[in-house]
Amino acid sequence: MRLRGKICLAALLAGLCGCASPMTENDRRANALLRQMTLSEKIGQMNQIASSTGAITGPMSERLSCDEAVKKGWCGSILGIKDPAEIERLQHLAVDSSRLGIPILFGHDIIHGCRTIFPENIGISCSWDLDAVERFARIAASEAAAFGVAWTFSPMCDICADPRWGRVSEGSGEDTFLSARIAESMVRGYQGDELADSSTILSCVKHFAAYGAPEAGRDYNTVDMSWSMFKDKYLPVYKAAIDAGAGTVMSSFNDFDAVPVTANSRLLRSVLRDTLGFGGFVVSDWGAVRELIAHGVAADERDAALLAFRAGVNMDMVSGCYLKSLESLVESGVIREKEIDDLVRPILKAKFALGLFDNPFRYGGEARRHEMYSGDNMQAARELARESMVLLTNNNGVLPLREGARIALIGPYADDRNEMIGAWRGMAEPDSCRTFLEGLCDRFGQSQVSVARGCDPRTDLPGGVAEAVALARRSDIVLLTLGLPNAESGEASSLSSLALPPCQKKLLRALHDTGKPVVILLVTGRPLELVEESALAQAVLVTWHPGTMAGPALADIVSGDCSPSGRLSMGFPRSEGQLPLRYNHKSTGRPLRDPASTAKYVSRYMDVSNEPLFCFGHGLSYTEFVYDNPVIENPVLSPGEDLRVSVRVSNTGTREATETVQLYVRDVLSSVTRPVRELKAFSRVTLRADQSVEVKMTIRYEDLCFTEASGRWGVEAGDFILYAGHDCSATLSAPFSVR
Ligand code: NOJ
Repeated sequence: MRLRGKICLAALLAGLCGCASPMTENDRRANALLRQMTLSEKIGQMNQIASSTGAITGPMSERLSCDEAVKKGWCGSILGIKDPAEIERLQHLAVDSSRLGIPILFGHDIIHGCRTIFPENIGISCSWDLDAVERFARIAASEAAAFGVAWTFSPMCDICADPRWGRVSEGSGEDTFLSARIAESMVRGYQGDELADSSTILSCVKHFAAYGAPEAGRDYNTVDMSWSMFKDKYLPVYKAAIDAGAGTVMSSFNDFDAVPVTANSRLLRSVLRDTLGFGGFVVSDWGAVRELIAHGVAADERDAALLAFRAGVNMDMVSGCYLKSLESLVESGVIREKEIDDLVRPILKAKFALGLFDNPFRYGGEARRHEMYSGDNMQAARELARESMVLLTNNNGVLPLREGARIALIGPYADDRNEMIGAWRGMAEPDSCRTFLEGLCDRFGQSQVSVARGCDPRTDLPGGVAEAVALARRSDIVLLTLGLPNAESGEASSLSSLALPPCQKKLLRALHDTGKPVVILLVTGRPLELVEESALAQAVLVTWHPGTMAGPALADIVSGDCSPSGRLSMGFPRSEGQLPLRYNHKSTGRPLRDPASTAKYVSRYMDVSNEPLFCFGHGLSYTEFVYDNPVIENPVLSPGEDLRVSVRVSNTGTREATETVQLYVRDVLSSVTRPVRELKAFSRVTLRADQSVEVKMTIRYEDLCFTEASGRWGVEAGDFILYAGHDCSATLSAPFSVR
């Protein structure tokens, strides 16, 4: 039953990669320009520098002065400038004072917003709302463009099953399918239909590849995985973003299959360019070219430059190795100038595509400042912040709050603008942020809300607990903000423990002992271990770091003006010992069929369940949804045919709410071991109380493909099971088969 119905990825992509693409106008313009450029000017285009005012994200200490590099034509791109006037000044210097007047490509990490800050990306992904994701990226791009920024280092396409890795905050969680859909929506939002538009910017897919799987969750650590795991689980996300048209890719810091990615031709040339058909340019990550020395694969900077160059890295982010070494490598005959041309051409083409040569000042700079924080932008940030919030538990319907209740808002994040923003904050101005306290006061009135800090994120406050307890006693309900600060989210923020700090646990226990209902508002950039917390609190609402409109979004949810609709894009473990933890794990030869079983000699822990505390896809609302069995319109699929499914969903509660209908597939018998189930489609539907709808969904044939034992990418004929429901534990099912 195995060998029919195959689709070969290479064949699918032959049109993209095998044949030489026709010469475009931008190719011609780039070639004409290349003919005028000296060797050092070409190498200059391959060099990216950081401005002295820009963010420093690595241990680099030496830098060229920006002005000097720009005038000499020794840099093609600058990253990290936050001042539009400075961008304009440097662009003038490039255009007016360098020999050929080639404009600079200004880049910045616009990760979850520019001025108007949206939730951290893990929160955004919990919305499962692709239209809202595209809108967020469009707004972020437009605000960034108004600063003169033409290039964002986003989306991060690294899936991750280990929340010890701090960068889970920048991604879309553990699942390939959901992450891929979000990544492509972001690329569309950033780049729009026309890159030369003054409100769209170039997107950079990162971190290619598998950066989200560092051993033991420690940032920058080695990555060791099978090629089949890579191709099935990791690669499709980068591919989706590239297929959506992303113009650039960032190579990752890690090694892969024992070769650092920055020097890995198999990944950067064979997989990225030949198989995926990527035609844009690759920028290294920060200082990663020189880091080839620390990896132990390059003897010195010249060697590092040569390895990265050979692997196809077009632009060196700030290490300076290209600038220092490529010229002499050409002069000594190690590389040919034609090879340099081949790597410079895509950089020039990107600048032409952006319209920078036609008008280097096309973005408007200072003149567009008024576009920041527009009413529409703030409304979009509020909507996405509330859609990102995930209600994990809600005992006895403690939420929404009852009108007139006296609210005690307690905890280190109750009234803190800065902490709402999260990591990677673009051009954020924390002062523009609406805190939880402000949001609740606006909604319920000041007299109804009182506040106490209780403790700092990681330390006790003298008298803090006593003050909080006294306030709780005078109130009807406690909203307790717990979690981890900005600084413990993002790059270089790995943690070995996912427990809340002891001072926060102490505060929670004391408040629980008052007998007042406690609702935890969890501020975090990663899943945490909440076994005790979820037992003590009446409800847990994950707010993530919600961004500029934190307060109003929170008020929308806790008041019941909107029912929560966020669904986890990553499970919450019971213990760090379970990590990495994925809902779409393999069966094994000794699977634990009954989660409650204590049998020996099956694949399980003796001291903790195999299951997460809260699983992928989970999230409550203020109503109940009931599913009927899914119906498959075409239960016997021919090769290449999409699966058509309908499922009836009914809102049996008393409020309008949004449900995310999720479809999972299990491939019953294959030539290789396969996940127990995988998400293959989802759809958000909003239903009034008592409303029932038939939701029609499609599973694309290409999404059933995987790496077969032969190494081919395809679908093997045989039996499959479809599961439909509310989260990854859905039990309603229907069989189908592929002929
Ligand atoms: C290092 C990070 O890994 C990457 O994501 C970021 O874009 C660059 N620094 C530039 O800031």
